[in-house]
Amino acid sequence: MNKKCVFIYTIGCQMNVYDSEMFKKVLNPLGYIPVEVVEDADLVIVNTCTVRKKAEEKAFSFLGRMRALKKKNPELIVAIGGCVAQQEGAAILRRMPYVDLVFGTRAYGRLKAMVEKFEYDRIPHVDVEMTMGIAGEIVTPELDAEVEVSRFVTIMRGCDNFCSYCIVPYVRGREESRDPDVIVDEVRALVERGAREITLLGQNVNSYGKKEGLCDFPELLRRVSEIDGLLRIRFATSHPKDLSPGLVAAYRDLPKLCNHIHLPVQSGSNAVLKKMNRKYTREDYMERIARLREVRPDISLSSDMIVGFPGETDADFNETLELVQEVGFSGIFAFKYSDRPNAPAANYEDKVSDEDKRRRLDKLLVLETEISRTKNLLYAGKTEEVLVDGKKDGKEGPQWTGRTACNRVVNFTVTGGVVEGSLVGTLVPVYIEEGLPHSLRGVFDMKGH
Ligand code: 5AD
Ligand code: SF4
Repeated sequence: MNKKCVFIYTIGCQMNVYDSEMFKKVLNPLGYIPVEVVEDADLVIVNTCTVRKKAEEKAFSFLGRMRALKKKNPELIVAIGGCVAQQEGAAILRRMPYVDLVFGTRAYGRLKAMVEKFEYDRIPHVDVEMTMGIAGEIVTPELDAEVEVSRFVTIMRGCDNFCSYCIVPYVRGREESRDPDVIVDEVRALVERGAREITLLGQNVNSYGKKEGLCDFPELLRRVSEIDGLLRIRFATSHPKDLSPGLVAAYRDLPKLCNHIHLPVQSGSNAVLKKMNRKYTREDYMERIARLREVRPDISLSSDMIVGFPGETDADFNETLELVQEVGFSGIFAFKYSDRPNAPAANYEDKVSDEDKRRRLDKLLVLETEISRTKNLLYAGKTEEVLVDGKKDGKEGPQWTGRTACNRVVNFTVTGGVVEGSLVGTLVPVYIEEGLPHSLRGVFDMKGH
């Protein structure tokens, strides 16, 4: 079999990162080897995201560049997968005739056959079938002899929540969960190859297994945490409405579960939350956090926020600012609301002007940086356990990097000895010398001072 090269460009969430790894495995039997330089490729795949307009534009701008490449090399196969492919389907072929294959979010089980057929007949093909029952088809990504310290594992797909601004339920379909035995085996295989931290992924991990009558999410966490050699477990994303007492108990009982939760609140105003169809109030949200803090008083929280949802007033937005202050998030991903096809909010009245959205976003980010800086300052003088994930050679010798359990980035140097081998993949105590706005700087003393 001829060796061929595949280049995959991944946009969007962690789930897409996982899927792109899976594509590599699926295409390997056809002779495709992953490459890092697009010009070397025989097959280019763009794995896309459509959750916000900006992400969609990024996909089309990359595809635009493929036109020139294809002119130079007419044999090149150009494929688009993921959420934009699901959303736009055959329209992509009309708009960009140099694209050959369009495959949606539930077509990865058929990707190999699609590429194989195209190599043979060169007939463009679109597959945006919303097949169910695909959870069993997710294959463990191709594992190199050694893998990164921190890896993702998808545990479920799709979403049944229909938040009014969100396109995900339309492009990713209904929720489906993978078999827990398969997940546990996959995590074990990753740990055997060097992974020390696993992030379990799903659009709404709290409803894992419910539909299928599999074990529930806290039980899955318990099973994963029993894997020897695994040091840390994270997960994303968790819907506040489904944050159960069982999950709180998991935080109480499982030391490997990191002291951090990403819990998107989206808005601090009950009126806006209602229109967003989030099914919780600000008070519910605060109550859930209080439960978590009972078992993990210093748990760090991060969140997603949308500013400028249709009808959002300055008063509503101020409630978001107040909530941010009250909770003291360690990190915020804030977005300007954008209309998405099919999402009901696209038809809501009282759209907020772009200028107001920008102003609110800036305000939120200023507040966030301030809170984050203040929190980071408090770390100075403390010793934090850091999972080391990399090394850079700086002017003053090697600089190691890693993260605290709370997910803060730490850059540190080593004193008191010479590191033999690598620290990557180990937990080391780092004395924090300085808290910077977005990271911490410290030192690991090998003599233990
Ligand atoms: N406009 C802006 N932000 C959005 N998000 C989802 N849909 C939209 C939209 N239409 C944000 C939410 C979600 C994150 C992944 O993207 O905050 O949690
Ligand atoms: Fe979108 Fe809401 Fe589902 Fe998250 S929970 S993917 S925001 S519909």
